[in-house]
Amino acid sequence: MQTDSELMNRPHRGTIHSIDARVIDQQAWPDRQFILRLHAPDCARTATPGSFVHVRCNPDIPMRRPLSIMRASAGEGWIEVLYKVVGQGLTALSRAEPGDLVNLLGPVGRGFRPDPARPHAVLIGGGVGIPPLVFLAETLAPAPNAVAFLGSESPFPFAAASAQLPLPGTPATASACMPQLEALGIASRLASKAGLPGSYPGYVTDLARGWLDTRSAEQRAAMTIYACGPTPMLRAVKELAAGFGLASQLCVEEFMACGVGGCAGCVTPVMIDGQRQMKRVCVDGPVFDGAALFSDRA
Ligand SMILES: Cc1cc2nc3c(=O)[nH]c(=O)nc-3n(C[C@H](O)[C@H](O)[C@H](O)COP(=O)(O)OP(=O)(O)OC[C@H]3O[C@@H](n4cnc5c(N)ncnc54)[C@H](O)[C@@H]3O)c2cc1C
Ligand code: FES
Repeated sequence: MQTDSELMNRPHRGTIHSIDARVIDQQAWPDRQFILRLHAPDCARTATPGSFVHVRCNPDIPMRRPLSIMRASAGEGWIEVLYKVVGQGLTALSRAEPGDLVNLLGPVGRGFRPDPARPHAVLIGGGVGIPPLVFLAETLAPAPNAVAFLGSESPFPFAAASAQLPLPGTPATASACMPQLEALGIASRLASKAGLPGSYPGYVTDLARGWLDTRSAEQRAAMTIYACGPTPMLRAVKELAAGFGLASQLCVEEFMACGVGGCAGCVTPVMIDGQRQMKRVCVDGPVFDGAALFSDRA
């Protein structure tokens, strides 16, 4: 098996850093969700929305875990990730305390690429797919025409608040927002089938569809959808975008081994110029053109 340094020396020399990052803070949220802030100045400087860090959760667990970067401060030298524990690796990470060192590779991957020709951003996030959209929102702001629709079946890992920014075309049941996005001037609404207060009681894509229905063709022509979440949600977003003739950029998840482009363990089929090509999610993605993903021919 190749070592981390052998893999690092191949495709992305000088752009992906191996860092012993010191834990600044770790907050616990319901349903085993955590927000971890790490001192990682090199990573913070070059992180972009949609890029991720490949984290060694514990020295005894060799397989790293990929986590999207949710926020980065180049000035203060930190990054933040939000994660939900699934198994052994993230359980170990959730025990990290301020002052501990966590080794990570990052930032990895090609993130979202805002399209100046379609500047009105429609952000759709599901569950632990929300973090890269928070990062994108921060880099887009001020963006008066950006909107966000966020769905979760676990309690949201933030204190939802009553929405103040109007979002005509959304139902009265969707009354709550993510306050961090409102502070950026971006109207947001929440969706959940778990009966979370102030949330639209259905799929986040149905909430977004209802709003898109009320937009004019001229307004829709200026929009791009940016989405991250579980694969069924991303498939629904792709259909939503196609139905309204919108461009979409989707951040996908795949099981990863090296995480830096050296093992081809994360390949996924993508349609390019009508041809089916296998692309590495870690370094060719994780963000791809929605129209190129999930094709019957791909
Ligand atoms: C690019 C990318 C960004 C991600 N960003 C986030 C995020 O911001 N927050 C978050 O909570 N989760 C995120 N995930 C999913 C997260 O990596 C997995 O949930 C996590 O690896 C599970 O680890 P565990 O130790 O809890 O579970 P385990 O079951 O112990 O993991 C076992 C193995 O399966 C792999 N694995 C399990 N589930 C997944 C999955 N869905 N995708 C890829 N590998 C998986 C792990 O890497 C590990 O090798 C992301 C995945 C990718 C590919
Ligand atoms: S995980 Fe090794 S190439 Fe992507």
